[in-house]
Amino acid sequence: MKVRVFDTTLRDGEQTPGVSLTPSDKLEIAKALDELGVDVIEAGSAITSKGEREGIKLITRENLNAEICSFVRPLTVDIDAAIECEVDSIHLVVPSSPIHIKYKLKKSEDEVLDLAVNAIEYAKDHGLIVELSAEDATRAELNFLIKLFKAGENLADRVCVCDTVGVLTPQKSEELFKKITSEIKLPVSVHCHNDFGMATANTCSAILGGAVQCHVTVNGIGERAGNAALEEVVTALKFLYNIETNIKLEKLYEVSRLVARLMKLPVPPNKAIVGDNAFAHEAGIHVDGLIKNTKTYEPISPEVVGNKRRIILGKHSGRKALIYKLKLMGIEASEEQINKIYEKIKELGDLGKYVSDADLMAIVKDVLGKD
Ligand code: KIV
Ligand code: ZN
Repeated sequence: MKVRVFDTTLRDGEQTPGVSLTPSDKLEIAKALDELGVDVIEAGSAITSKGEREGIKLITRENLNAEICSFVRPLTVDIDAAIECEVDSIHLVVPSSPIHIKYKLKKSEDEVLDLAVNAIEYAKDHGLIVELSAEDATRAELNFLIKLFKAGENLADRVCVCDTVGVLTPQKSEELFKKITSEIKLPVSVHCHNDFGMATANTCSAILGGAVQCHVTVNGIGERAGNAALEEVVTALKFLYNIETNIKLEKLYEVSRLVARLMKLPVPPNKAIVGDNAFAHEAGIHVDGLIKNTKTYEPISPEVVGNKRRIILGKHSGRKALIYKLKLMGIEASEEQINKIYEKIKELGDLGKYVSDADLMAIVKDVLGKD
């Protein structure tokens, strides 16, 4: 069975400090996510603002393949705003840990249960699909978490366990999801944050424990250290666990760059899968290995995820890397010319400089022009 991908780039991702999208930006990203093959697009939170509702409406009117969802609190005003935007589903979020219930909501556990049930009933009466999310579930008491999900069991369509502050470990994640999926009859989703850099691993472990849907964002953007990254989760599932999703992997790089541009959040070069260094090689022995067989230093081929292999020339480069790169660029040079080019690259490298393709062309012109 394929694991479903619930994309929250346009809701949790847009909550990245300093980020704000226009309605047309939202639509452009939603269309790209739909083409990428995500199963659910959390388009935003309809109650947030007039502009947010405008963006969600543009998306729902597009008749995309994906289910379009709005984030809501257990309040009729929030659900009404989602209904006004004609979404397919709501992501109903209810606090579940003592710290959230007591200090944030200032309510009792029973009041939280009532709020959840009333909100689900209201949404179902209006024909919405409901995903009931337990916020801060990984710091909740397990008994209460199960009680909350049981309260929604015969009403909601799915439940979701949120690791709101990223405190799970892969081992705890698998154990927790095994317990929850053995108690609850509904499909269970996982929503992980990356505060300790564990979001992808915790998401994969949750799936091993029985979760059937993962919440992710493109480039892992989101509150604080972000959410589980879509591109990491889907490729790890496929290549490390042999678990499929509906994502068209070859579109990952392109969608990553669209989100980076519209959100004004550049992708760090060393970002797994979609970073510009994810398939870049400089060290002499690495390039030598790659020339013989790309599998030596690449776990998967860059084209599989729409990225590309980059051979970087600098102080760690070997002569073979230079020869390989010149060949790729269609440049023919004699042994002596290659030696001169190589010396210049090392000189630049020692000055702390990286040799870009433009630098290399300038060096080549200089050396070849002189001979
Ligand atoms: O991380 C979280 O708990 C959330 C919920 C509000 C769904 O994003
Ligand atoms: Zn979140």
